[in-house]
Amino acid sequence: MKIAHISDLHFGSLSRPVSEVLIRHFQADKPDLVVVSGDITQDATCSEFEEARAFFDLLPMPVFCIPGNHDLPGMDMERFYDPWGRYKRFIAEDLEPELKTDLVHLKGINTARRVLAHWNWANGSVSQRQCRDIQRSYADATAPWRVFVMHHPVMNAREMPLQVSLFNRNRLLKCLDDVRVDIVLAGHQHHAYVENRLTGGHTTIFVNASTTTSLRIRRQPNGFNMLNFTDKAVRIDRMELKDEAFHIYEAVTHTKV
Ligand SMILES: [Fe+2]
Ligand SMILES: [Fe+2]
Repeated sequence: MKIAHISDLHFGSLSRPVSEVLIRHFQADKPDLVVVSGDITQDATCSEFEEARAFFDLLPMPVFCIPGNHDLPGMDMERFYDPWGRYKRFIAEDLEPELKTDLVHLKGINTARRVLAHWNWANGSVSQRQCRDIQRSYADATAPWRVFVMHHPVMNAREMPLQVSLFNRNRLLKCLDDVRVDIVLAGHQHHAYVENRLTGGHTTIFVNASTTTSLRIRRQPNGFNMLNFTDKAVRIDRMELKDEAFHIYEAVTHTKV
């Protein structure tokens, strides 16, 4: 099974040629599923969401999507009285989807908040209710791979272009350890990396994606991750844009013990 992990598309501040290269890549390579780890839009306007909807409709495979902090209206009253109304109308009703296949059990949560007890509302948070949902979701999982999706990264890269705070981070890490999640997919930093965490003999792989299509790149070019699953192994290809095409920049293979 092949899953493409894209992130931080930022419709409204998106490179049209890059999005076209991406569509062509997916039409040729045919992943079974596309996972989007948030920041679909730049300013959460209706026209940006409309463009994103049209883009998803062009993809010939299903899309598993969660929101990011940019998918909340900015300084707009709608942020406070109906923060996710536009996302729900154009993208998906469910902000925290779940998908079970024979090989992979996917669960997503929404870490973006309309308000935070912090000067920077771009940061994220995880609630007790969300940790309970994660536990419930994986309790009866029979697929060999447990994949979790969120926007704000819970692990930090060795070299970070952007400081991120995820409130209740330790609570989430403990929860992910308890349910023995195999892979965590995230975005937000516009910076791709793969970090392993070993707890009680179990490895969790934290996979971050660069921005796939945004004009706001940091230290890396546009990119995404392609995950190739078999029963016992996963190969994670970090794809980067070069010469108007996406190429494998680095491949990491992990085998279950
Ligand atoms: Fe972003
Ligand atoms: Fe973000």
